[in-house]
Amino acid sequence: MHPTETYNDRVVRLFLLAAAVWGIIGMSIGVFAAAQLAWPALNFGVPWLTFSHIRPDHTFGVIFAFGGSALMGTCYYVVQRTGHTRLAFNRLALATFWGWQLICVLAMATMPFGITQSKEYAEPEWFIDILIAVVWVAFGTVFFATLARRRIQHIYVANWYYGAFIIAVGLLHIVNNLAVPVSLTKSYPIYSGVVDAMVQWWYGHNAVAFFLTAGFLGMMYYFVPRQAQQPLWSYRFSIVNFWALISVYMWAGSHHLMYTALPDWVQSVGMAFSLVLLMPSWGSAANGLLTFSGAWHKLRADPAAKFMVLALVFYAASTFEGSMMAIKTVNSLSHYTDWTIAHVHSGSIGWVAMITIGSLYAMAPRALGRPAMHSTRAMELHFWLHTCGLLLYVISMWAAGITEGVMWRATRPDGALAYSFLDSLRAVHPLYVARMLGGVLVVSGMVVMAWNLWHTAAHARKRLITPIPVPIPEPVPHQVPAPLPAAG
Ligand code: HEM
Ligand code: HEM
Repeated sequence: MHPTETYNDRVVRLFLLAAAVWGIIGMSIGVFAAAQLAWPALNFGVPWLTFSHIRPDHTFGVIFAFGGSALMGTCYYVVQRTGHTRLAFNRLALATFWGWQLICVLAMATMPFGITQSKEYAEPEWFIDILIAVVWVAFGTVFFATLARRRIQHIYVANWYYGAFIIAVGLLHIVNNLAVPVSLTKSYPIYSGVVDAMVQWWYGHNAVAFFLTAGFLGMMYYFVPRQAQQPLWSYRFSIVNFWALISVYMWAGSHHLMYTALPDWVQSVGMAFSLVLLMPSWGSAANGLLTFSGAWHKLRADPAAKFMVLALVFYAASTFEGSMMAIKTVNSLSHYTDWTIAHVHSGSIGWVAMITIGSLYAMAPRALGRPAMHSTRAMELHFWLHTCGLLLYVISMWAAGITEGVMWRATRPDGALAYSFLDSLRAVHPLYVARMLGGVLVVSGMVVMAWNLWHTAAHARKRLITPIPVPIPEPVPHQVPAPLPAAG
């Protein structure tokens, strides 16, 4: 290696910028969708503005555009730091950035107009799917080639999670999207009937497992010790949890298809694996939280650390809730109700968004060559806006879900249903309004973050796209495992 070689943070900064922009777009569409559920007239009679048409734009926008950009950016940042090496194939890395942005724009521009496979979280049509596969393979090539040229013998655990995320998502995407195109905008899946449903939910569930969980755990395992300025509570435990998580998650997907035409034993297998899944999930949450032990005082002055701690609390809470919802009798109440929506958002606004925001605040000044974020008070404001919005969202949807579940199964003495569907809609209407207000708070927080990032980059705005030389430190020979992720 050349003595003056530096990290490639250019592509990291681009992904950081993209994550902030997509976060605002994706969540604003979520607020609009939430408002439509409270006041359906807000679709203004325009077909492509109706709830069903904009909903996939929300889910794709937040999961793949916001979450995906954050995951790819942090992945490139972390693999360089933990390996004391520069990114392999710099041009290919840049191509993955533009390729991913093109995919997001194409998907979000076509779905509202009905160009969709109608498979949840896999809506984009075949021509976008091919592009996704190509960009994903390129992303994997850059990641694994960088790992191969690392100058530290040990592979830090964050990279194991990022690696599993890349391999599994590639596999899931390709298998679930096998289809026969009949025109540029229409294709039919090669699976049919209950097999199609099972493949779709094997994909759907593992998209949660590997996109919304394993990748973000990679982020957590690097940025939490970094922010706490302490070694991981137990390195060995993190490895045990890694193998347990990836071997159990793959078998739990059938909990999305309880009481359907799927064979009963397959549903029971899904339920059993979902219960076991609680252990590795809580293992990682505990490991992250205990990494702060002895350093809790740092939370007072560090909003980034606060985001991380609350993310871990919500990771523990949503995985506990998920395991409980996978029990058939509980699922018979929760399925089809807003309880599922509460669970989804305690996992996504709580765990996914908060670990992302905490990590972006930790990474941004370093990647921008600044000593700290422009305003700590703005970070603090963001933390409270996000936390209040999250609680308002999740508590209102829990209440709505239980109300719906109980009303739908209530019967009169003669066996007739006690309430109509309209009765239950009337009952939850105020809760829908509360959920929307929660969303407004969350989006406001994202705008504050974008403002803060913009000002942090102010002195280095041109540096958003030109390299800042961060010299790569000399590795410590045979550092197994790194007590702290490498400096940077
Ligand atoms: C401002 C914050 C947000 C608001 C207001 C919001 C709003 C909504 C609404 C109204 C729905 C449709 C619910 C329904 O079909 O009944 C929804 C679904 C969904 N949202 Fe969000 N959302 C927000 C943030 C997020 C984030 C950050 C993520 C992920 C990282 C996310 C992931 C999802 C997913 C996966 C679904 C589909 C859930 C299902 O089908 O069960 N949302 N959201
Ligand atoms: C131990 C971990 C978890 C288990 C066992 C689990 C289990 C479940 C169950 C049983 C459902 C309801 C299925 C239904 O009735 O339709 C569900 C839905 C869902 N969960 Fe989880 N969950 C876990 C963690 C998470 C996390 C951490 C997230 C987000 C980051 C998440 C995101 C979702 C989404 C998006 C859905 C809705 C899928 C859909 O119908 O569109 N889950 N989960």
